[in-house]
This record gives sequence, structure tokens and C-alpha cells, in this order.
Amino acid sequence: MEVRDNRIHFEGISAESLLEKYGSPLYVYERKTIEEKAETLLNSIDYEPKELKYACKANTNIEIMKIIRGKGIKIDAVSPGEIYAALLAGFKPEDIMLSINNPSWDEIEYAVEKGVLINLDSLSALERYGKSYSGTKLCVRINPNVGAGHHNHVITGGPESKFGISYRDVTDIIELASKYNLKIVGIHQHIGSGILNPDIFIKAMRVLLDVAVNFKNLEFIDFGGGIGVPYRKEESPIDIQVLGNRITAEFESFCNKYGRDLKLVLEPGRYFVAESGFLLATVTSVKKGEKHVFIGTDTGFNHLIRPAMYGSYHEIYNASNVNGEKIPQVIAGNICESGDTFTRDENGIVDRELPAFKEGDIVCIANAGAYGYSMSSFYNSRPRPAEVLIENGTARPIRKRDTFEDIFKSNLDL
Ligand code: LLP
Repeated sequence: MEVRDNRIHFEGISAESLLEKYGSPLYVYERKTIEEKAETLLNSIDYEPKELKYACKANTNIEIMKIIRGKGIKIDAVSPGEIYAALLAGFKPEDIMLSINNPSWDEIEYAVEKGVLINLDSLSALERYGKSYSGTKLCVRINPNVGAGHHNHVITGGPESKFGISYRDVTDIIELASKYNLKIVGIHQHIGSGILNPDIFIKAMRVLLDVAVNFKNLEFIDFGGGIGVPYRKEESPIDIQVLGNRITAEFESFCNKYGRDLKLVLEPGRYFVAESGFLLATVTSVKKGEKHVFIGTDTGFNHLIRPAMYGSYHEIYNASNVNGEKIPQVIAGNICESGDTFTRDENGIVDRELPAFKEGDIVCIANAGAYGYSMSSFYNSRPRPAEVLIENGTARPIRKRDTFEDIFKSNLDL
């Protein structure tokens, strides 16, 4: 994204012309950012064998998944739907792992049928799986009792988390594996999302490595994702090279102890795609309320729920007047709930100093490439936006805007 003539452009294409052509609101992604991120992370780990997996829950647009596949990255899926998406994007079954929480039996069967490795995260699921699939390979997810994340909702390790088998229950895992002749080829953890401090990542890594020595058939260890990105301009990004060096050093010293070089696996989602994506919307009204100036837009938390759900901060630009004079404003959506504002924290509305918006101006919400479209919904019966990809100075549509038929037709066909 760049500013030209006081307006936002993407590789020379103005936000305005994109909305004219593809309609408003619109998700816009820059291919080069995704590729750069993938290369940076790959280069930061000086260890072989290594594998990066993309936690595709962050964004399952098939064209985006194909870009990631092009960089040699594999897939972490959490549901049969994500397996389906990955296969559609050209990944092979052996490139995919299903890390599923509270699976129903048909979901396990789906993965087995497709030839996808399963990562189970409870002793009860392990027992159920063992009874039917004795003699097969699988991965188990461990809770290292260390958690981290940008919000309570996304801390997935530690005592409050529903994920993983406690690191204290390793003996039970090993007993079940031997009872059903299961080959545990991988152990996995994911402690949470939005981590900007490498220390906590390394701390959890050490717990998992301590546990790992008990498993004799390991081929890989997966330390999960969670690498944070700076959502605020003033936030500094995590130093990927430093993180990569520390992960490499810990893993090498473990492999010496273990006696074999295992595969080192990481599976970030947000890191690859967050900064590549922007949600563009149009100002539909300007209202001076009792306390705030409300800038109404043609989008809402049905299209980007992170501010309403976690109080998350996203940079916002007046794409039609980037350097205009700033005044305090609240950027609001068109959904019938007062929580539907993009300038907020967990406790409610927060004014933001932004160049004054007028009707027809374009609002550009940055860092929307991860958990934006993938968490969008039909709430208020509003269609989800179209998506376009910017590559080599051109824009390519990569998803159609929904229609009312998309929302309702399948129900009529019952
Ligand atoms: N692996 C597993 C097993 C996960 O559950 C997740 C995310 C990831 C990897 C990737 O995490 P990442 O690298 O993207 O932080 N909707 C929230 C994030 C929820 C993440 C859930 N699990 C948000 O918008 O911040």
C-alpha cells in the first residue's frame, strides 16, 4: 500500500478505482507481502529438516493458499472444511495436518479417508481413534501449561485452556499408544496467538522438548504458530531472525540429546497474511452525536469482527485524504449493534484522531488479511465482500461478493 497524491494506492492502483470496479466494501490483498513474509520466516531458521505450515484458519481464500503453497509451505488445518480448501488449493494430503479440538467421529473419518495426518488433543479422542485405527501414525497435541496471546480468547496453552493433553499426562499417552499400537510420529503445541515476545515462545518450547524425550518414534516436533504482527504503527515487530536463531539453537541441542535430527515444524497463520490485507469501505454518513462524531460506513463487524470481539486495534486511513487535518472520530459500521465500531477497545468506543471523513470518502482498515474475511458472517443478512489480489501492478478478483441467493437459496432447496 502506498500514498500517491494524498490517496491510497496498491502498486499504483487507486483504492477509488478498485471500489469503482469491484464495488464496496472490498478486501484487497498484496501478493508481495505474503511472499516476503514466507521468505523471511523460512530464511530465519538455519536448520534442516524444517517445515513451515500455514494455519489456514487465518485466511482460506484458495488463491492466497496457492501463493503460500508456491513458497513450499504446508498446511495446518483445524476442520474437514480446511482440508477440503487445502486440497482445492493443490496441497497434497501428506502436506496437511489436522489439528482438531473436540472432533466428531465423522470428522476423523474424513481426514483418514483423505490420507491426512491427525493431531489429537485429548486422551479420550486418542482411545476412540486407537480402537478403529490401530497400527497407524498420528500426532498428539500437548498443553505445556504455558500460554500467551493478545487476548484471553486466544490463549491456547495453560491451565484455563481446553486444548491439548497436559504435559503431565505423557505416561497415559504412551500407554494408550502401546495399547493400540499407535505410532506417535509427532508432538505438537500451540500456546496462543499474537505473541510479540520470543521469551514466552522459548519457555513453552523447552517444556515440549523436555516431554519429547519420552516419545521414541518421533519424526517431527511442531511448536505451533502465534507469531504476532504489529497492529499499531508504533509497535515494533518481533525480530524474526532473533526468534529463528533461538528456536534453531534450542532444537539443535535437543536433537543431540535425542540422538536423531527430527523435523522442526512451525505453523503460523497471521504472520503470513495479516499485513497483506486491507478492508476498503465507503463512508455513508457523518453524524455529530452527543459525545462523538460517528463516521458511518457500508461495512461492519460482520466483515471484520476483531475490534468488536477482542477490542483489537487496526490502523485506519482516510484513503481519499490521507494527510488531511485530523479530528477525533469514531468509525462505525452498519450493523444493528452499538458494539459495531472499528475504533474501540474492550470497554467500548474510543475516539481516534484521523483526517476528517466526509460522505463518499474511502475508509481503509489495515492489517485485515488474517482473521478478517475468514471470521466474516452473513449477520444482518448482509452479503460478504468481494476479494481482490494485487500482483505485478494489476488487480485480480479472487472471490465474488455474495448475493442474497448465496445467503438464502440453499435453505429454500431443503
Ligand atoms: N495453530 C493452531 C493449532 C491454532 O489454533 C492457531 C490459531 C494457529 C496455529 C495460528 O495462530 P496465529 O499464528 O495466526 O496466531 N481470531 C483470532 C486468532 C485466533 C487464533 C486461533 N488459533 C484473532 O483474530 O486474533
